Amino acid sequence: MKKWIWKWGAVWAGLAICLGACGQPREENNTNTGDSVQTEADGRDDSGAEEDGQDENSGEAPGQEGSPADRQESPEDQQKSLADQQNEGGTEATEPEMDRPGLAAFYENNFPIGVALSGYIFENMEEFEEVILNNFNSITCENEMKPDYLLDKEGSQKKLKETNLQAAVHFDACVPAIEFALEHNMKIRFHTLVWHSQTPRWFFTEDYTEDGKLVDRQVMLGRMENYIADVLGYFQEYYPGLIYAVDVVNEAFDPWNGNENGVRMKDNLWYDVVGEDYYYQAFVFARKYASEDMKLFYNDYGCMDKANLILERLAQAREEGLIDGIGMQSHLSTSDKIQYKFMLAVKQFCDAGYEVQSTELDIGVKDNSESTFLSQARKYKSFFKNMKALQEEGYPITGITVWGMNDDLSWRTGEYGLLFDGDMNPKKAYLGALLDPSVPDVE
Ligand code: GLA
Repeated sequence: MKKWIWKWGAVWAGLAICLGACGQPREENNTNTGDSVQTEADGRDDSGAEEDGQDENSGEAPGQEGSPADRQESPEDQQKSLADQQNEGGTEATEPEMDRPGLAAFYENNFPIGVALSGYIFENMEEFEEVILNNFNSITCENEMKPDYLLDKEGSQKKLKETNLQAAVHFDACVPAIEFALEHNMKIRFHTLVWHSQTPRWFFTEDYTEDGKLVDRQVMLGRMENYIADVLGYFQEYYPGLIYAVDVVNEAFDPWNGNENGVRMKDNLWYDVVGEDYYYQAFVFARKYASEDMKLFYNDYGCMDKANLILERLAQAREEGLIDGIGMQSHLSTSDKIQYKFMLAVKQFCDAGYEVQSTELDIGVKDNSESTFLSQARKYKSFFKNMKALQEEGYPITGITVWGMNDDLSWRTGEYGLLFDGDMNPKKAYLGALLDPSVPDVE
C-alpha cells in the first residue's frame, strides 16, 4: 500500500507542476476537427453520431489552442479562472496530497469504476497492476467475452451430429480476467452477447463453415437461445455473483445504416437471418437464463443522438421487464457537449425507467500537446462531475467504465483518449476524472 502512495505522490507533484506551468486555459476549442471514430471491427464512422461537430466556442479557429489569441478568455472564464486560483487551484497544484485515493475509492459512494482490459494486459500484468488496483473495481474484457472468442468452431462442427441448434462454446480466453477479478474482489461487466460485429459468419451457417449456406430463422433462434443459456449458465454455475451487468445486445439501432425503423441492416447477419426482432428475442432469452444479480443492458454508441430511437425500439422489452439498463458507450471528443447534451440523454433514459452506465468512455483529441490535454482534462472533469451530481440527485447511474488502460493501447489510435499515457503515467485527464480543483471546470 505504502509503495503506491509514495510513487503516486511523486506523480501528483509532477502533474501539479505541469498544470501550474500551463497557466489558466481558455475555454475549449474544437479539438475534434476532422476526427472520425472507426471501430476496429466494422469500420463504422461515428463522426455523425457522438461527435456532433459543434464547437463549444464557435468562432474560434480549430487547432490553434496554443496561440496567444487562444488565451483570451471570456469574462465568465476569467471569473472562473480567478475563482480556481483563489479557492483551490493554486494550493492544490503545489501541494499534492500524498495519500489521495484512486478513482474507485473516490466514487465509492456513487458507482463502480471500470476499465476495459485486453489479453495483452493480463500477459503483462506487472506493468499495470498497481494502477488497476488503485483505480478500478470493475473489469470489462475488451474482446475476450465477445462471440468470436467464446464460440468454438471445431467443437460446434463435431456437435452437429447431435444437434444443429447448439454451437459449442469455450471460455479459455477470458479465464485470466475472471481469475484476476476474483483474486482482487472486482466485478465483471459482460460484453457482449448479440452483436453484428465480432461474431463469425460460420455461426450462422448450416455446417458451421465460413462460406456455408445460412440457416433459417428458427434454427438461428435456437442457436441464439442456447448460446445465451450456455454463456450465462457458465458464469452462474462456476462464478456466481461475478457478473453484475450483461450487454445483451450491442449496437442494434443505427438510423444511418438501418431499415425504416432504424434497426441496423448493414453487415448484420442477425438481422438477415433472424429478422428485425432479433434484439427483442435476445432479451427474452437473456431474461430467461440470467440470474437476478445480472442486470441486462442494451449498449450502443451515439446515444446522445439516438436516445428517442433507442427508447422507442426497446419499449416492448422494457414493458415486459426484459431489460434493466442502457449502456452508453461514450466514445466522445472534446467538441461533445457533456452537460447540455450527454447528460440530457442520461436523464431521458433514467426517466424512462432504465439504469444507465457509461460503458466505453474515452475522449479523443487531435494531438498530445499540453493545451490539448488540458482541454481533455476539463472534459473528463465535466463528465465525471455531472455523472456524480446526477447520481447524487437520485438518477440511477450505476457505473462508469473507461475503454482501455492507456493511450498507446487504445483502439482510437492517435487520439490519446484515455487517462494514462503509454508509460502508465496519469495524464491531466486523470486529475479531471478525480475532479481535482486544479483542472478548471469546462461548462
Ligand atoms: C464498440 C464495441 C467495443 C469495441 C469498440 C472498438 O464500441 O462495443 O466492444 O469493439 O467498438 O474497440
